[in-house]
Amino acid sequence: MAKGARLRKVVAPKRLTGEINVPGDKSISHRALILGSLAQGVSKIANLSPGKDCRSTVTCLKALGVKMKWECTAALTVFIYGCGGSCLIEPANVLDAGNSATTMRLLSGVLATQPFLSIVSGDSSLRSRPMKRVIQPLRLMGAEIYGRGGDSFAPLVIRGARLHGIEYKLPIPSAQVKSAILLAGLFAEGDTVIEQPLPSRDHTERLLELMGARIRFHSRRIHLAPLVSPLSAIDITVPGDISSAAYWIVAGIIHSNARIKIKGCGVNPLRTGILDALTAMGARIKFENEHLEGNELVADLIVESSQLRGIEIGGEIVPRLIDEIPLLALAGCIARGTTVIRNASELRTKESDRITTTVRELSRLGARIDELPDGMVIHGGGLLTGAEVKSHADHRLSMTLAVAGLVAKGGIVIHNAEVTEISYPGFWQELENISMPSE
Ligand code: S3P
Repeated sequence: MAKGARLRKVVAPKRLTGEINVPGDKSISHRALILGSLAQGVSKIANLSPGKDCRSTVTCLKALGVKMKWECTAALTVFIYGCGGSCLIEPANVLDAGNSATTMRLLSGVLATQPFLSIVSGDSSLRSRPMKRVIQPLRLMGAEIYGRGGDSFAPLVIRGARLHGIEYKLPIPSAQVKSAILLAGLFAEGDTVIEQPLPSRDHTERLLELMGARIRFHSRRIHLAPLVSPLSAIDITVPGDISSAAYWIVAGIIHSNARIKIKGCGVNPLRTGILDALTAMGARIKFENEHLEGNELVADLIVESSQLRGIEIGGEIVPRLIDEIPLLALAGCIARGTTVIRNASELRTKESDRITTTVRELSRLGARIDELPDGMVIHGGGLLTGAEVKSHADHRLSMTLAVAGLVAKGGIVIHNAEVTEISYPGFWQELENISMPSE
């Protein structure tokens, strides 16, 4: 693997093998940081995600007056001095969410309830992502929240107000929107009820349960009563991020000489769509040592080289694997037969338009993929061949292309590859660790 300032070359190794501890789950880390700040007392969060996205959440919380202490041993641990949500202060400057939509959308829910003015912005990618989806329900709760472009985009301007609970039918299965409403609902007057079109990741709900919030579930409906006493502080270890583990899972499956073990990986059923889809494609994936940690399911996963066949992916499974679709497209390129991915138009609103960018970059490697408005059709069975490809400043695309490099003939070069720092700063080192070079 050759390093350049922003260029990475990946060549196919003879063998892929090793044991991997992936970084702490990014979605859970954001939530633990925010909810720990709102709780009463000191929360200890171990194995926090070291990525830039979670650092954006930390920076915003600090600007809101939250005190934290850090311990950096093998994994990142943070102690958060929560003050029951009553001592956040007006930030002296614009809050910078960087590249992180989770930071921006979740914090909007909190800020809408605080007695001060705040402005939240981010990088050019985040400023082009849809924000009406949080502005609309928060306004229905009585929030004063405005965005650029007719309330469509960040920067967001929020003047905290006294909110009231609402009954809200989510138009899209977005965990970020759901979480923003729940966070606002904690400090609103009256109950908040959310109806989900399809289940999406429920890490906010699980943490709220753990911290003593009055939250109940009935089919696809979530009932939250406002806090009568502050949330309790927590002491948790964040499970390994299945979205980061997915790169090694797919690498192990599509490489012809591989066996990889991933230790302590989060396997929340609302995140394991990738494992279900790959298993349906014929992948050999074993679970070991399943247990509960901090109200989340965790397991060790073992993957081995497998013969894949194409499948159809759509409907209920999509929110359970939304961030792994570029990887599934890559698996589809290697599989025998055709893989069809549908109902995934949400991919167009991610860090890049992931339908267009995935199709474009995998095609440069010789893949035969057709773009659909809401997905793609992948004609598998062909060989991938080396080429120069672009990350489009999208961390998940950069890592997907690196995995493609592990099986492409002739090696690939990825431009702006270092964007992996957003979620997985140790990615390139791990790639080197598990690759046995070819002669
Ligand atoms: C996330 C939810 C998903 C996902 C994103 C992280 C979260 O986004 O794609 O990477 O932590 O809640 P949406 O809520 O927009 O579907």
